[in-house]
Amino acid sequence: MCGIVGYAGRQSAAPIIVDGLRKLEYRGYDSAGVAVHDGRGIEVVRALGKLRALSEAVAKRPLEGTLGIGHTRWATHGRPSEENAHPHVAGKVAVVHNGIIENHVALRRELIAEGVRFSSETDTEIIAHLVDRALRNGARSLFEAVRASLQLVTGAYAIAVLNADEPLTIVAARHGSPLVLGIGENEILCGSDISALLAHTRDMVFLEDGDLVELRGPGPEAGPTARIQTMDGVPVERPTKRIDWSPTMAERGGFKHFMLKEIHEQPDAIAATLRGRIDLENGDVHGGEIGLDPVSARAIRRVYIIACGTSYHAALVGRYWLEALARVPTTVELGSEVSNRPAVFFEDDLVIAVSQSGETFDTLAAVKAAKAAGARVLAVSNVLDSAIPRLAHGELYTRAGPEIGVASTKCFTAQLTALLLVSVYLGRQRGALDADAGRSLLQGACAVPGFINELLGDADYVRTIATSLVDATDVLFLGRGYNYPIALEGALKLKEISYAHAEGYAAGEMKHGPIALIDASLPVVVIAPKDASYFKTLGNVQEVRAREGRVIALATKGDEAMHDLAEHIIWLPEAPEHVLPFLTVVPLQLLAYYVASRKGHDVDQPRNLAKTVTVE
Ligand code: AGP
Repeated sequence: MCGIVGYAGRQSAAPIIVDGLRKLEYRGYDSAGVAVHDGRGIEVVRALGKLRALSEAVAKRPLEGTLGIGHTRWATHGRPSEENAHPHVAGKVAVVHNGIIENHVALRRELIAEGVRFSSETDTEIIAHLVDRALRNGARSLFEAVRASLQLVTGAYAIAVLNADEPLTIVAARHGSPLVLGIGENEILCGSDISALLAHTRDMVFLEDGDLVELRGPGPEAGPTARIQTMDGVPVERPTKRIDWSPTMAERGGFKHFMLKEIHEQPDAIAATLRGRIDLENGDVHGGEIGLDPVSARAIRRVYIIACGTSYHAALVGRYWLEALARVPTTVELGSEVSNRPAVFFEDDLVIAVSQSGETFDTLAAVKAAKAAGARVLAVSNVLDSAIPRLAHGELYTRAGPEIGVASTKCFTAQLTALLLVSVYLGRQRGALDADAGRSLLQGACAVPGFINELLGDADYVRTIATSLVDATDVLFLGRGYNYPIALEGALKLKEISYAHAEGYAAGEMKHGPIALIDASLPVVVIAPKDASYFKTLGNVQEVRAREGRVIALATKGDEAMHDLAEHIIWLPEAPEHVLPFLTVVPLQLLAYYVASRKGHDVDQPRNLAKTVTVE
């Protein structure tokens, strides 16, 4: 959590940093700050609350200078407040930090014993004091002082540091939290992810854990430079990669919120994730990125999917496909639960880690455990070179483009796309699917963007239904088979952004408990397309109606029976059964969006949440 940006160039640094932080606000938004070197010394402005407060503070107190660092925070150590906002200053040093310093208590005690006075409750301020102490003790440069300080620190971090005595230099380091360099013309930047830097360059250098880098802004005679070393002082080269995301992909593009824009981007995200990966002629999937040759694919005894939150729901749909299409036993586990029990992995397991950000702490920790046990790991992520794909043997990137709304939407359907590709690949290699079956499944996948466009055409009707849910304090979502995870996802979306209590349930479980909740005040959203379990789900609808529950149904066009039972119906196009989860989730995303928007909530940055959860 938390986002950092650094800029060294020829333009005024503060507006560039604030603009970069705006792209990172999804990582945390309880306070923010910026420090700029004006040639004489370092000026700091910090503000409690969202980035807007920092922009206003910077407008009141303009910062001169072409080199600086900034931060947007999601509180871990110390409540959200201006004092706890970064940058933290000690002597001539200013620091921004993303991550957690685990030995902060001992270090703080040691520094206090030496007479240091702290002005915040954060673990980050310790780094500032350590670097300041190293400089006062004779370190030759900021680079050396940061190196010496980090050797005392345990935990995860990405940091950027300024020294008042070095007006052209930012020192940055990465250990367990992401940090990317952007190499522009006459300017060099660093940031927590590429979206913060895209307005300046598409040429990015992804730092590795343990990298320490000295960024020097352009001087009168020389251009900007980046010097990278390991913590032990060994120089290293990291390749520069050209990114194909455009800066406008991280803009709202006329939509009121990023979430609404991202819901509408799903047809493109799915089409992009399929592109170049399918072989329709042979009814197969190009498996190179999956990292499993046909022999290894046949040797897999079990698939074990690890994920959290929305990605976990995608994984549950994936299990359905893996078992139905590839006939491979599949377990799905929450990242946080893997570390809370003695999970067993085998060398012939294929572990699939599904994570939009590629950084989620619990998923990452579980992947490390699986890898240590000898399992093969495949990462499904939307963020190039993020921590989880780096650890994996294969990476199947979703190509959803940057997802800014904290509530995940387009990454979910892009994850479904990737999991369907893996399922067809394994099905073909393991002989569970022949070429015709593979072709028909893939043709179904190719038709999904068109179906979703059709559903998006009915967004206004979903908005009308949302009006009837604005005052609901509880909502039940029911679905069966592959639509059970969609019920879970519909409930998660609603609670994340509308703050209403919502529960997703397997429709077959209704009579084992939740039926007790049903009365005239409880809206029940039932996902009931015409599929193999349609009649059973219709039975649930009748049971809800018999108890005067209010039914909002997702049903296939022309379903007369549903027409007579439900208060509202969102019509689904007739589509092949295996692609229905792509379609049923879209109206539920819209429903959550319109309820939250109607309530006047900050849809893109819901309270207490952050998009990237890098803490346990
Ligand atoms: C989704 O709407 C959530 N904000 C959250 O549940 C998220 O899916 C979860 O934290 C996992 O994130 P990841 O995909 O980046 O690992």
